Amino acid sequence: MFTNKLLARLRDATTVTVLTGAGISAESGVPTFRGKDGLWQNHKVEELATIAAFQKNPQLFWQFYSWRRKALRDVKPNLGHYALVDFERYFKDYLLVTQNVDNLHILAGSTKIVELHGNILRDRCTKCNAITVTAADPDSQIPTCKKCGALVRPDVVLFGENLNEILLRKAQHAASECEVFFSIGTSGVVEPAASLPFLSKANGAFLVEINEEETPFSVHSNEMLRGPAGKILPQLAMVIEKIQSR
Ligand code: OAD
Ligand code: ZN
Repeated sequence: MFTNKLLARLRDATTVTVLTGAGISAESGVPTFRGKDGLWQNHKVEELATIAAFQKNPQLFWQFYSWRRKALRDVKPNLGHYALVDFERYFKDYLLVTQNVDNLHILAGSTKIVELHGNILRDRCTKCNAITVTAADPDSQIPTCKKCGALVRPDVVLFGENLNEILLRKAQHAASECEVFFSIGTSGVVEPAASLPFLSKANGAFLVEINEEETPFSVHSNEMLRGPAGKILPQLAMVIEKIQSR
């Protein structure tokens, strides 16, 4: 199933970077954004996940995010998330860059992680930037900051907003330094995350894609693993464990 070329790279690699998207959480029951069961087919992203929507109608905005939070409440990491926790043991310099805000990598136990788009279970004050970890789940009342009284919002990157500069630089550095780069379960259409696989390839990395479908990365990949991440990643972890112990 895996080529000898990939296995040789993984046996010798010390620096590995992984980028994940909504596809890795699909098998946990979290809807992806695009594709046939995409989240945004029922909810227009342009209307809801933007800073303009929050300013115009915070009530509707918060209803949408409460719904998303509730949907995540009973969701658990899957074997794909757990396999990536093992990657921390296999590679000395390892970084997991995720676009997901669902907290599942952290729940699984990943510690070397950058949440590029934030985390939906955290709130952030719109005025003083105070972070609340026990996120509110408001159905009617819009939450306000305990410190300054201003409105709070989920600590996620909305459309029209910039990413956290420090986190983005960390991700770009890891992409440009790594020997092997994995792009897993992402459609590769949202920038700047979508440029990370190309950045790694331009700097000599071996590019591996795990996805059920074709993406803009597919033709540039050195290895294309077509199928569900929750199945492929545990198999890959088992093989790495074996070849590294030889
Ligand atoms: P998308 O919904 O755009 O893409 C999901 C990808 O996962 C698709 O390429 C699917 O083919 C693939 N996929 C689905 N199930 C899979 C499985 N079981 N195993 C492997 N692959 C699978 O999600 P993202 O690329 O993550 O931004 O979207 C990027 C960003 O767009 C999100 O972070 C979000 C959204 O707007 C923000 O929240 C700022
Ligand atoms: Zn505040």
